[in-house]
Amino acid sequence: LSVNYQEKVRPFIDLVDELRANGLDRDVSLPSVVVIGDQSAGKSSTLEAISGVQLPRGSGIVTRCPLELRLKKSQKKDAPWKGCIRYVKNKKDVRFDVDEPGNVGDAVKKAQNDLAGTTNGISDSLITLDVESPDIPDLTLIDLPGIARIAAEGQPTDIGQQIKDLISKYIQKKDTIILAVVPCNVDIATTEALQMAQEVDADGSRTLGVLTKPDLIDPGTERGVLQILNNEKYKLRKGYTIIKCRGQMDIEKGMSLEEAMDKEQSYFKSHEHFKSVYKEKKAGVRTLAGRLSTELVGQIKNSIPFLKEDVKTKLAATRQDLQLMGIGVPQEPDKKMLFLTDLLRHFIDDLQKTAKGELTRVCL
Ligand code: GDP
Ligand code: NA
Ligand code: MG
Repeated sequence: LSVNYQEKVRPFIDLVDELRANGLDRDVSLPSVVVIGDQSAGKSSTLEAISGVQLPRGSGIVTRCPLELRLKKSQKKDAPWKGCIRYVKNKKDVRFDVDEPGNVGDAVKKAQNDLAGTTNGISDSLITLDVESPDIPDLTLIDLPGIARIAAEGQPTDIGQQIKDLISKYIQKKDTIILAVVPCNVDIATTEALQMAQEVDADGSRTLGVLTKPDLIDPGTERGVLQILNNEKYKLRKGYTIIKCRGQMDIEKGMSLEEAMDKEQSYFKSHEHFKSVYKEKKAGVRTLAGRLSTELVGQIKNSIPFLKEDVKTKLAATRQDLQLMGIGVPQEPDKKMLFLTDLLRHFIDDLQKTAKGELTRVCL
């Protein structure tokens, strides 16, 4: 990921991280990026490509709980990679470390099995994965289960609705950027991702379209895909980006994310149908990362006035509480004495009142 990308986001993300560290995220929602789309549309692959973090992925329902990926760039260039999984089960905090990037997939699976069972069930309990490393961007990404059309073995019959409810919950937040992922090799009219995004983001101000799997396109349908990319069909205010991620074979052959990104670039550069959109900056993971950072910065800028208001309200409430507590202990020894006797008198008054109350109650 380009240096430019990091620098553009950094000051805002630092602010957000700081607010988070101070516990403000419990009361104030802060921007994050959510991926939505059908099962196997390439959601996890998209997040992987953007973040450089390997996620559980493959065919069928692989993402079974919402996964919040909190990426933090280490300040020191030689800092070691650090990963930690956290979730809450039966009101108890569970956490464990992940020792290396290659183990993230298994660690997330373990957490998912613990929360959603080992069959195909899903759960709306959040798994948080904190990753710190010198070579990742500061970003919070949320991977969600894919929209399922038919219940698979071991799944409740209403799994489709369950997943849609879960997705709605996450994309409703006004400061969430939605990546609507649609594969090139299916009829876009039949996918629900765009429709769901439209329901919560009617003017399309925070939805980015992502077209995946261009290499699996049905020959002869390229024109249709180009129309979507050029925003002539299923219009999105923020438009679409086409990306190519690793296929199952690439992963089995051990292709790294970096290598995949280089391959992707030469793929688009020389593609008979897509080289034009590549030139127009509508193709490639790097392009998507750039667009995303622009959106993210915009979202954070927009939310700062609200954050300010929130902080102001909290400050006023805290000041009021402080006032109720009085001025506190004075510095001078004689005033200190007065303060103490005053405090004691109040205390005794209170005690007497309480005792009287108790006495009356007992007598009655
Ligand atoms: P998700 O269910 O939406 O999270 O989809 P995944 O990211 O798990 O991807 C599903 C499958 O499609 C995996 O086997 C990926 O390797 C494969 N895949 C994703 N993107 C591409 C792509 O651009 N080209 C090819 N050939 N395969 C892809
Ligand atoms: Na999948
Ligand atoms: Mg997935």
